[in-house]
Amino acid sequence: MAAPSAAGKDPWHFIVVRDPDMLQKIAEGLPHGKFVTEAGLCIVVCGDVERAHGRELSYLIQDCSAAIENLLLAASMLGLGSCWLGVHPREERVQFLRTLFELPPNILPISGIAVGWPSQHVPPRTRYRQDAVHFEKWLAQQAPAKNEI
Ligand SMILES: Cc1cc2nc3c(=O)[nH]c(=O)nc-3n(C[C@H](O)[C@H](O)[C@H](O)COP(=O)(O)O)c2cc1C
Repeated sequence: MAAPSAAGKDPWHFIVVRDPDMLQKIAEGLPHGKFVTEAGLCIVVCGDVERAHGRELSYLIQDCSAAIENLLLAASMLGLGSCWLGVHPREERVQFLRTLFELPPNILPISGIAVGWPSQHVPPRTRYRQDAVHFEKWLAQQAPAKNEI
């Protein structure tokens, strides 16, 4: 909840799930999240559309995504493994979680975050692509020399 949010509306909610039966049910509704049953915990991140800046869906998603990334970073700082399990915008997954958690109509489930003790430690990595970085204008690909930055 330290993440930035548009106009400081903080529209996020977090459903903390530790019950193995509930983790099993979550797995049934998330085709790419079956392994959540092996995690100790799943945090379902939801957003309150009524609370988001201007009630705009895009702000809601951006705000919740910032909170989700913080959650992932915090987990890794604690030596935990975590994985973002996509929910929104897949309507069938949204509906599934709406029913499972008996969510009010204004609460939109955005993602599940599986958290657990990692079975292996992988070295830090980057997916840095120079061609995805643009200097001054889109087409100017030349990176400045280090002493020019
Ligand atoms: C919006 C979003 C949805 C995602 N959904 C899933 C998912 O359902 N299952 C999964 O295993 N990983 C999911 N991921 C994780 C990505 O697959 C993963 O971050 C990406 O493949 C890069 O892998 P890395 O983060 O291990 O480098 C999701 C990530 C994002 C941002």
